[in-house]
Amino acid sequence: MNHQLETLRWGIIGLGKIAHSFCHDLQLVKNNTIAAVASRSLAKANNFAFQYGAKKSYGSYQELFEDPDVDIVYIGTPHNSHAEWSIAAMNAKKHVLCEKPLGVNQHQVKNMIETAQKNGVFFMEALWSRFNPSVKTCIELAKEGTAIGEVSYLNADFNFYRDVPDEHRMFNMNLAGGALLDIGIYPVFLAYSIFGVPEQILATSRFHRTGADLQTSAIFKYKNGIANLMSGFASQSDMRAKIQGTKGQIFIEPTWHEAQSYTIVNNETFESQHVLLPTKGKGFTYEIEECVRCIAEGKLQSENWSHQNSLELIQILDEIRSQVGLKYPFE
Ligand SMILES: NC(=O)c1ccc[n+]([C@@H]2O[C@H](COP(=O)([O-])OP(=O)(O)OC[C@H]3O[C@@H](n4cnc5c(N)ncnc54)[C@H](OP(=O)(O)O)[C@@H]3O)[C@@H](O)[C@H]2O)c1
Repeated sequence: MNHQLETLRWGIIGLGKIAHSFCHDLQLVKNNTIAAVASRSLAKANNFAFQYGAKKSYGSYQELFEDPDVDIVYIGTPHNSHAEWSIAAMNAKKHVLCEKPLGVNQHQVKNMIETAQKNGVFFMEALWSRFNPSVKTCIELAKEGTAIGEVSYLNADFNFYRDVPDEHRMFNMNLAGGALLDIGIYPVFLAYSIFGVPEQILATSRFHRTGADLQTSAIFKYKNGIANLMSGFASQSDMRAKIQGTKGQIFIEPTWHEAQSYTIVNNETFESQHVLLPTKGKGFTYEIEECVRCIAEGKLQSENWSHQNSLELIQILDEIRSQVGLKYPFE
């Protein structure tokens, strides 16, 4: 394991949808290489390696963890297995970037953080929207207080219609499926990033026949404001996030969690400013660059999305799940 790396040799496990998008963007970040990929199927790993120019491919995740030519492992498996594979990779002394949510519940996330600390490796939740230039700027503008005055309201959602088989990870209870953990995490992250941990949460869900949440809605109350958040697989939405304050409004333009622009409206002058901030690739490049920077600086966590941030986020999600009565079979 080497901390002082200016370039990283990546190992990718779980070669599904997101792994493709991630590797596409990884190729856009200078000096980073895809050293190895691993799947439960060697044939799939071989194909994936060929597609992205990875040097090695494995038919099991553990073989990749034991490869000395891998510095950091990217985990793109279903939610239920993030903790297991992150812990195994970190115990093999690899740095880890793990997909969201970091773990299914706070118990898992605490174990993962302890494992990172014990092994002295860098560990971060792949909450890519945190590093999206438009989202990052809007959070800063909202918190800084002059652009739109004192912020008192957020309205954010993540909704799309999807009809997939019950076994699909989106609805499969054994894989910790459901709207909240898959996409509801984004509006919850936005509220948390602007206002912090809520004083009060009111949540309700509608359920799919598998028991996973099809739609989850939550209201967060803070000393100075309210956030109205919604996620679901039952309807299409324009997904424009609205942050409103005493003097104006900020709109993170659709699709807000991967925004390419934002708009600020001044309520006194009615002036509107549309700011374009196109992403490099789809936008996974920024979390990749954050890993490179932190590891080069010898950091074991990012100050921009810290272990504490991941822990507080999952604690909020745990509270919502407890209110709506959503418990996974393995919990
Ligand atoms: N899709 C997105 O746009 C997106 C965006 C951001 C984050 N994410 C996150 O990325 C993670 C994966 O999402 P995805 O959409 O890429 O899922 P996916 O297409 O189903 O891929 C997940 C991969 O995990 C591996 N896997 C290991 N155990 C599995 C099991 N029991 N059942 C099914 N697959 C298993 C499989 O890879 P092998 O067969 O190669 O082992 C599978 O291809 C989730 O945490 C999700 O929240 C997804």
